[in-house]
Amino acid sequence: MPDGATLFERACRGERGSHCPVWIMRQAGRYLPEYRELRERVDFLTATKTPELAARITLQPMSRFPLDAAIIFSDIMTPLEGMGVGLHFDPGPIIEEPIRSAGHARALHPLEPREHVGFVMDAIRIVRDELSDDRAVIGFAGAPFTLFCYLVQGGGSKDFMEARSFLRAEPEAATELLDLLGRSMTSYLVAQARAGADALMLFDSWVGLLGPDSYRRFVVPVLRRTVADIQAEVDRPIIYFANGGVTLLEDIAESGADVLGIDWTLPLSQAVARLGRRSVVQGNLDPAALFAHREELGAAADTVLREGRAASAHIFNLGHGIHRTTDPDKLAYLIDHVHESSRRMTDESEQVGEVATGT
Ligand code: CP3
Repeated sequence: MPDGATLFERACRGERGSHCPVWIMRQAGRYLPEYRELRERVDFLTATKTPELAARITLQPMSRFPLDAAIIFSDIMTPLEGMGVGLHFDPGPIIEEPIRSAGHARALHPLEPREHVGFVMDAIRIVRDELSDDRAVIGFAGAPFTLFCYLVQGGGSKDFMEARSFLRAEPEAATELLDLLGRSMTSYLVAQARAGADALMLFDSWVGLLGPDSYRRFVVPVLRRTVADIQAEVDRPIIYFANGGVTLLEDIAESGADVLGIDWTLPLSQAVARLGRRSVVQGNLDPAALFAHREELGAAADTVLREGRAASAHIFNLGHGIHRTTDPDKLAYLIDHVHESSRRMTDESEQVGEVATGT
């Protein structure tokens, strides 16, 4: 690990520091008045494709809050356009021609990051340049199965029935498509690392819809390959967030990712018990907790911090994206609270350690 590594990167590698690093999924977005103000003038896709704008939006929450990491403003669906997929946002992604046949799946082509999504790398360069060295930059991509879900379903869905049926009806074509997505997201994330991203994250928002057999058969192989291929190219920690995946934890541990994001439905100590002691976890406050009164919000955050002590290291986050009606002042309170409270817990555990060793 480079000497200048941030507290956040050290946590990703399993090292505990003076306090618990914190960032928030969807921290740049509609709950911020400055984001809404900018979006009145520019549509979402244009904002993601204009490096200066994407960088400015990425930095909006960084100016407001003492967050330990920035996540590049983009979307998991953005690179799919370069692979030959027509799409727009309203407000979620809509695929113009959903993939419903093996022939259509085979017509997509691999992503060439520099040619198709050079604007993301340009945005990363601006953000890395403007952000102080003690704050990390996270690059990200959709995990193959979640991208597959949107591509086949055509948009958001409660159960992604079309996508799950395609897995069963056309297992070979589905596997080929998942592979193509895995290879494309590998080159995309490697390019983001080379442009300056300090850590890389894969969002698997819909794996919670799969049973363990399908997860093992269709997801684990492509995920392991993706993680290993990225690690062979660049030395950056990889975070894997399997939303709704607490029933799959033993298999998720097989992914090879350095950090596992946990949703809010399982206490972190139980997640760690199932993942193995050496795991690093990220999460997992219920986004709804930000609607509680401050005292209760602080107590809920403390519970997450205490639970996180079971892991070798912990990165504080919500268990899923921040809701768009959240009060930004509440988030400011939460971030300060996490920093102060985790600093206190670290001091206390050091004192206990000193007593125990008689020093
Ligand atoms: O701050 C950040 O976290 C970085 C930016 C980011 C966005 N989307 C911006 C966005 C990230 C990391 C994502 C990931 C993403 N996008 C996921 C994975 C995480 C998850 O939530 O499970 C998924 C499934 C998507 C697909 C997507 N994009 C949906 C479902 C939606 C609509 C719902 C929503 O939250 O509005 C989008 C649009 C989108 N992506 C917006 C933003 C800020 C809203 C666009 C707008 O109207 O301004």
